[in-house]
Amino acid sequence: MSRYHGQHGYGPVIRLFHWLTAVLIAAVALRGVTMVSLPATTEAEVVAIFSAYSLHKTVGVAAFAVIALRLVARLLTTTPGPLHPERRVEVFVARTTHLVLWGGMILIPLSGWLRHASAPGFAPILWPFGQGFPGIPSNEALSLVFQTFHRFAGWTLAVAFTLHLLGAAKHAVLDRDATLARITTGAGPYAPAAAFPLGPLIVTLLIWAGVTALAMQLAPAPMADPFAAFETAPEPEAPAQPAPAPETPSPALPEPDGEPIDMPPPPAD
Ligand code: HEM
Ligand code: HEM
Repeated sequence: MSRYHGQHGYGPVIRLFHWLTAVLIAAVALRGVTMVSLPATTEAEVVAIFSAYSLHKTVGVAAFAVIALRLVARLLTTTPGPLHPERRVEVFVARTTHLVLWGGMILIPLSGWLRHASAPGFAPILWPFGQGFPGIPSNEALSLVFQTFHRFAGWTLAVAFTLHLLGAAKHAVLDRDATLARITTGAGPYAPAAAFPLGPLIVTLLIWAGVTALAMQLAPAPMADPFAAFETAPEPEAPAQPAPAPETPSPALPEPDGEPIDMPPPPAD
């Protein structure tokens, strides 16, 4: 059997995509984590924030395109099975971790893009294809759900990546087997492809469903527009004029016995 048949090590295309996407995701994630806390006290700093967001979004969309190509290549390729199929728990955790990583690789850039498309106008993606996304309306509440999901999904990917790294380190240092070599040089002993990972797939779907539910639950409500009251409130009415006092005769002086008092005419000069 040929070394590159896919059951000894990963083929060159899969290896190239693995490391290319790893570098792209690391770079985009680093820019994402640092850009959200950049200072915005001067005009120059605000311009720098715009550039940082545009860079993050543009490279993020490029990473998404590479990930899509990687997915196609992965689905068309036979990959080697586990080196120690008898370690059932370890294999289950490793395959679940791979699938969670796949979920993050697809859902993180997608949610970032949807966040951007549903709240357009700020820090454009630097490309000529427009800023919207088909079928996604401009809607602040929806945008905040995508924003929250983008963040939670980032944390989920970070946890999965930590497990992935620990697993790779364990194989390299403790087991001293060919797991790392299979994805670096492509060399390794024959290991027939594993069966369809139904259990890991179900656990992965549950994890991402949980992340989605959490994001929907915890997304902040849109901030009230402080000027909305001025735009929608009716014109203030002119202050009411005091009603003209009714013509009332001046009260007659009290008369001791109810009879009018006959006043003498004023003396002539
Ligand atoms: C591999 C792809 C991507 C990764 C790993 C990634 C990762 C991150 C991370 C870690 C943050 C910081 C989250 C926080 O602490 O608030 C972030 C923020 C952000 N990302 Fe991404 N991102 C990716 C792609 C994208 C894309 C494609 C877009 C848009 C087209 C995007 C739009 C944003 C925006 C707007 C924020 C700021 C938070 C917000 O206001 O929504 N991201 N991203
Ligand atoms: C220093 C960083 C990394 C190391 C040392 C590493 C190591 C490895 C190793 C040894 C394998 C082969 C596992 C096996 O044969 O069972 C592998 C496969 C895999 N890695 Fe990584 N990896 C790294 C970064 C990443 C990143 C950042 C991602 C995605 C976010 C990722 C996603 C995957 C996936 C999905 C597979 C399964 C093969 C496939 O479906 O393409 N890796 N990695």
